[in-house]
Amino acid sequence: MEYDPKVPTYQTSDPTSFAHKSARERWPAIITGAIDDVHRTVSKLPDSDKDALAEGKSIISTLGSLKYELQHNRKLSPIPDDGYPDVEGYNQELAARGPPTWHNVEWLFAECYLYRRVATLFSTAQTRFWRDYDPFYRQKMETFKSSRPAVLELAAEYRAIMARIQSSKAHAPVAAGVTDARQIEDAERLLFVEMAEICLWGNATDLSLLTSLTYEDIQKLQGSGARKEAEKNVLVNDLGRAFQVLHAAHRAGKGRRRVDIVLDNAGFELFVDLVLAGYLLATGLATEVVLHPKDIPWFVSDVVPKDFQALLQAMADPKAFYEKKNNPDDDDNAGKTSSPPPAPLSDEEAANIQFLFDHWSHLHSEGKLILRPNRFWTHAGSFWRMPHVAPGLVEDLKESELVIFKGDLNYRKLTGDAAWPATTPFTEAIGPLGPSSGIRVLALRTCKADVVVGLPEGKDEETRGMEGGGGDSGARMWAWSGKWAVVQFSDGKA
Ligand code: F6P
Ligand code: MG
Repeated sequence: MEYDPKVPTYQTSDPTSFAHKSARERWPAIITGAIDDVHRTVSKLPDSDKDALAEGKSIISTLGSLKYELQHNRKLSPIPDDGYPDVEGYNQELAARGPPTWHNVEWLFAECYLYRRVATLFSTAQTRFWRDYDPFYRQKMETFKSSRPAVLELAAEYRAIMARIQSSKAHAPVAAGVTDARQIEDAERLLFVEMAEICLWGNATDLSLLTSLTYEDIQKLQGSGARKEAEKNVLVNDLGRAFQVLHAAHRAGKGRRRVDIVLDNAGFELFVDLVLAGYLLATGLATEVVLHPKDIPWFVSDVVPKDFQALLQAMADPKAFYEKKNNPDDDDNAGKTSSPPPAPLSDEEAANIQFLFDHWSHLHSEGKLILRPNRFWTHAGSFWRMPHVAPGLVEDLKESELVIFKGDLNYRKLTGDAAWPATTPFTEAIGPLGPSSGIRVLALRTCKADVVVGLPEGKDEETRGMEGGGGDSGARMWAWSGKWAVVQFSDGKA
């Protein structure tokens, strides 16, 4: 807490903040989802698996108690020790805060605490079966499957772009013989911006908001038509500046040109992150891409290493993945007649996806696409604490040309989830990761929480004035739904 910004943070007690709604409506629904998931798994365990069965039932009951505590505004209780050192940090902070009650607590702390507490239920399990269990995995894979139209569209585009790059003398997305430097740079920039915007809007499909979005809504958000339409909703767009630093490093012939992506959600968002990573590596805008997943199930849909493997596995055999009904890891729907079976993939569609699989798994095995988890990403605190709590991570990120922070939660953590005036410069709001930090930060964020910085004068007021924007209510409601976005850059190496 001592290193956080000295600006008031969002609280679950504040009825004008999305924190209020989150604590009272979304979190109980998310715990119910986890209970349902564990229940489904328990109902499939054979009777002979007595220990796992008994433990599964006990996990369901503890999740039920957690939901009760939350809904009845009880005090947050210490997290049982599961052998990981971050528990101590959580519990010390909990004590220092009071301990607080669920409906009157700092939003960022309480939301992280919630997922950390759920994780402990599994990490302290006696049976190996539950120790490795992710209560959100099923949901992540089901939603990824429902992204099929956008995945097919992007796979075809990606394959065509890669073919172009490979056949061009300049390793750029231009016709084979083009050697004009200006033309090459323009083409690379245009595609970089396009891919990064795909990556940005891929973040609109966060499962923790699924309590209010349907799968059909999500599909609509993912298509290319929707992206074009949404361009006007990017309130600040620094992609040009980010491209410039990558291009300059490439042109200067720097031997090692690393880009980092601090990942957010699994499934479709991870898919589009890999599209961007593959593009950067193919053009030479990067020689290495380091992906930072979470270590434990987090905010429902965040990537853990198993999600990366699962995505590649799905890509390796797309027909098996897409032609089977939902629930990839069980056969719940087998024999149900309520919905028709998924349409078969054409040979070309399957080949496009397999092309992606070959490309990405090749980059991964060559060590150009690296997965690097770090426990810091699932600490309770903001990234303002990073230099003190995770100095090794700061040193590592300094090695990178550009560190891309995906999504809403990363943005909240970058800015300390504090109620900054909306015109506060982004570079100021990210504190120690800002100017002269040695780290170049690019935030790709669709807005799903109150905090917003770096807006031009009057923009917040203007957007509040739009339908559903919050008006005079005191609430910045426009920033809650994922409809608006910001792309903000800070050059900590300048
Ligand atoms: O808006 C709800 C919320 O849970 C926020 O609390 C959180 O920041 C966000 O969703 C998670 O979104 P993302 O996956 O983009 O980080
Ligand atoms: Mg997320």
